[in-house]
Amino acid sequence: MLKTGITSVSELREKGFNSRWGRSKSVSISLYPEILNEPDADRLAERILLHFMDDRGAFKRTYTARFDDFDKTVCAFLKGNSPAQKSLIVQDVGVSDGRTACDFFEELDSSLSVISFFASDYNSCLDVIESSFTRLTLRASRLLEVVWGPFVFYLAGKGEHEFRKRYPLSVLIRWYALHFPAKRLLRDYHAGKIRSREILLFSPRALRLASKDKRFFLEEHNILEPLKRQSHVVRAMNLLNPSYFTREEFSQVLRNIHIALYEDGFLITGSNQDAGTSVQGGIYCKTSSGFKEIRRFGNGSSIAQIIENFKL
Ligand SMILES: C[S@@+](CC[C@H](N)C(=O)[O-])C[C@H]1O[C@@H](n2cnc3c(N)ncnc32)[C@H](O)[C@@H]1O
Repeated sequence: MLKTGITSVSELREKGFNSRWGRSKSVSISLYPEILNEPDADRLAERILLHFMDDRGAFKRTYTARFDDFDKTVCAFLKGNSPAQKSLIVQDVGVSDGRTACDFFEELDSSLSVISFFASDYNSCLDVIESSFTRLTLRASRLLEVVWGPFVFYLAGKGEHEFRKRYPLSVLIRWYALHFPAKRLLRDYHAGKIRSREILLFSPRALRLASKDKRFFLEEHNILEPLKRQSHVVRAMNLLNPSYFTREEFSQVLRNIHIALYEDGFLITGSNQDAGTSVQGGIYCKTSSGFKEIRRFGNGSSIAQIIENFKL
């Protein structure tokens, strides 16, 4: 009938992620920055992100050491074929919470000179505003989550039908929370009376690396938009898959990558399942009007045909 959520780190430590009936609890995404200093921050961050869907319906899910062998092979390739005398600017796109980007950066850094490495993902920045009883999480002004007292209401993502069926009382409380306290807080925010704080949905390891190493950057980026700079390498792992983009969108994505690569730069792409499983993908060299596959892994990229047929 009634569903409360987890609204503080101490509550999370005490009660965990599942109810005593084994159902997963609604843990507020606004807790993300607060768990970063916990001893098991990586695990907690991963669990919080597991429930958090982006605007395109994707979850930020990835694993450490997902591509160890692949990364080693790619680094050896770049060492032998680098267009920039082994000094590279790299853009790793669709990195989720950035764990695999850290792995790749460290592998590259052990054998090549990395000038800068930009790891980006879609929808990785959120804003939080709060007053005493109410906490709102927004993405580009769109309200995603309302915390009101002990309640956590996710407004984006799936599960609405199930929520309405199981928790009719919570539906009423959500209505009240949205129409009164949340509305009031939003009004104060838009009037400039309250400031927001930003949350970055990257893993603790990626955030630590970005603050420690001035060559490693984390940013938000939608690959359907032009990339922010040129680079020698664009890497897109578990991203160039038909489940994410239509054919027209692939043309846009490939155009953006082509424009972002220096002459003779490389597109590295591939997909796999869990950590350490074999990668199906390829290394493509930028040509004047498209891409040429110069190295194939497994059965190749699931969109190998689209990449090869792409013309600027
Ligand atoms: C399966 S994860 C892959 C993460 C990481 N590259 C890896 O291989 O472990 C796919 C990621 O693509 C991101 N994504 C989906 N659409 C995107 C877009 N239009 N632009 C950038 N990233 C996108 C999602 O946010 C998600 O984090």
